[in-house]
Amino acid sequence: MHLKQLTLTQYKNFSSKTFDFDPNINCFVGDNGVGKSNILDAIYHLSFCKSYFNPISLQNIQIGNDFFVIKGLYEKTYVKKKLSVHSKKDRKRLLKEMVKPTRKYLNILV
Ligand SMILES: Nc1ncnc2c1ncn2[C@@H]1O[C@H](COP(=O)(O)OP(=O)(O)O)[C@@H](O)[C@H]1O
Ligand SMILES: [Mg+2]
Repeated sequence: MHLKQLTLTQYKNFSSKTFDFDPNINCFVGDNGVGKSNILDAIYHLSFCKSYFNPISLQNIQIGNDFFVIKGLYEKTYVKKKLSVHSKKDRKRLLKEMVKPTRKYLNILV
């Protein structure tokens, strides 16, 4: 299974950003402070429902906003899986999961 797409909303320095990943190798290149480590931590957050660096989830919300959303689209042969983590100041953290068989998989089932 690989992470095909990552969408960040009001997460640290990313107001709204979508990344499309290659199934093999991906490189993050940029000046200090552009958000390379933040992308990796967002993927960690999506995987473990918490930040690697900051145990307080709400502190990952972009300064000046009151929630963040991290969405990931995972793809495995025949199955697409969407995962998202939401954190809102006045609510509990929420993890959503949606697994959707692809057409190919449905064809196999019938
Ligand atoms: N809660 C936050 N809201 C807005 N920006 C943030 C927040 N937390 C961190 N940042 C910003 O994230 C940037 C650091 O990103 P980072 O991933 O460490 O950069 P890199 O790894 O590319 O050097 C800094 O510009 C910092 O101001
Ligand atoms: Mg870094």
